[in-house]
Amino acid sequence: MYRMALPDGEAVGTIGWWAPEWQGETGYESGWHILPGFQGRGIAVAAARQIVAITRAAGRYRWLCAFPSVDNPASSAICRRIGFELAGESDFEYPKGHLMRSNVWRLDLRATQGG
Ligand SMILES: CC(C)(COP(=O)(O)OP(=O)(O)OC[C@H]1O[C@@H](n2cnc3c(N)ncnc32)[C@H](O)[C@@H]1OP(=O)(O)O)[C@@H](O)C(=O)NCCC(=O)NCCS
Repeated sequence: MYRMALPDGEAVGTIGWWAPEWQGETGYESGWHILPGFQGRGIAVAAARQIVAITRAAGRYRWLCAFPSVDNPASSAICRRIGFELAGESDFEYPKGHLMRSNVWRLDLRATQGG
């Protein structure tokens, strides 16, 4: 997990990646959170682009995925903005014991760089 900060060092949120197994294949997954006072400024998109670069450089898995709730347009907009493809919807357990309907976004880290 990474702390996001403005150039003056002020903390504005967190972002990270991990490598779960999804539908029988291990890949990277990312998630992000921006403090309310800093939302809507393009910070999440800028940070998510860095996660793409980090996981692409790590190069262990082909896919970088994100599973935002279908009711979270901002989070899906981040995926769309940085070049993920929408691979469908799925029920997703988050947090444990709680099923939510998620968009399945994925980015092919081995494809020629668009995202
Ligand atoms: C989702 C979240 C990370 C977005 O962070 P942000 O820094 O405000 O996002 P950005 O400013 O980079 O905007 C990203 C995109 O979302 C869009 N967006 C932002 N707020 C939006 C909203 N309320 N509704 C719809 N779209 C929205 C922006 O227009 C932008 O799309 P564009 O690039 O096509 O214009 C932030 O709202 C957040 O932390 N929410 C609470 C936690 C959360 O939902 N995390 C994600 C869990 S999957």
